[in-house]
Amino acid sequence: MTDLLELALEANEAPVSFNLEEAGGYGPLPLRNLSVDWEVPFDIYLKVKKQGETDPQIIKGCERGEVFRRDWQQKLLDLKISCVYISLEEMDRVMQYLHHNLDLLLADPNKTDLEKSLRVYDAINIWTINFFASETVRTGEHVKLAMKYLDNFFDLIESDRHIILNLLDLRRHSYRISAHCLNVCLLGLAFTSFLNWDQEHIRAFGLAALVHDIGLIRTPRAILEKKGQLTEEEMAQVKRHPLDGFRMMQEFVNMRWEGLEMVLQHHENGDGSGYPQGLKISATQPWARILRILDSYEAMTAERPWRPAMKPQKALWIMRNDWEKSKLFDPNFLTFFVKFLGGG
Ligand SMILES: [Fe+2]
Repeated sequence: MTDLLELALEANEAPVSFNLEEAGGYGPLPLRNLSVDWEVPFDIYLKVKKQGETDPQIIKGCERGEVFRRDWQQKLLDLKISCVYISLEEMDRVMQYLHHNLDLLLADPNKTDLEKSLRVYDAINIWTINFFASETVRTGEHVKLAMKYLDNFFDLIESDRHIILNLLDLRRHSYRISAHCLNVCLLGLAFTSFLNWDQEHIRAFGLAALVHDIGLIRTPRAILEKKGQLTEEEMAQVKRHPLDGFRMMQEFVNMRWEGLEMVLQHHENGDGSGYPQGLKISATQPWARILRILDSYEAMTAERPWRPAMKPQKALWIMRNDWEKSKLFDPNFLTFFVKFLGGG
């Protein structure tokens, strides 16, 4: 059998260091998800840069059906490669593999809560990429799976609330919609548990947060990736996403009504200047008001291709000054959120 991994790691190719960004048609999978001595039911790819070339390439490192060997794992670790790639076309197989592994891991008393939560995080990240990328996987079954992962998170938060905050430290600095939604979902789980909500509500909030921007997949990519100012027509297209998302999620029976309203109203401002309906604060769903805060905070503190991430202290300062004076946010939830972030 050809040792693809060996070939892929030939000396003339330098592996690209840890990078969780998605590359066209491929999704990242942290190495910790591959079980040694187990058959891998999907192809594994590596991101490498040939000597003298500036752009990295994705090359196959392990064929579907091969056993992932310990010496391969060691080699990747020695090269400081902590993430491999998978084809978006094989996502279903990847999900099944992760799901099975996760069940075993969660039942293992020798694993720490942090190890467990990292793996739930990886699984839900793949779930999100998949859900946003492919029309065919948007089924009730997939939504149920996400709810199961949110329950796993809930169990872990219950034992240690800081777990989610640790995960947020690792969050993906990607401008992709799915990454933003996952970050907002994690913030939502941590914040609603800080507010002492019960499990059912936390999970429903987390699910809606996870898909809140799904309507953006209907917005042309050129508009989403445009670095300059949007024209009026382009802006009008972006402003359709809450309603598009609401319509897309409406068909799922496992979405709570509050969650659907959250998707629809997450860009409404307290003073009526938001979209799509221009509602005043009293007419909006409280869950949507919370999401309005989390969404803005995540956007402000995450890196974008055209600007670095803002430091949390500066974000906190802006929230306590500009945000508190503005009529955009719900003042009570904002006060709690500042407290939650440790701003007293
Ligand atoms: Fe949005």
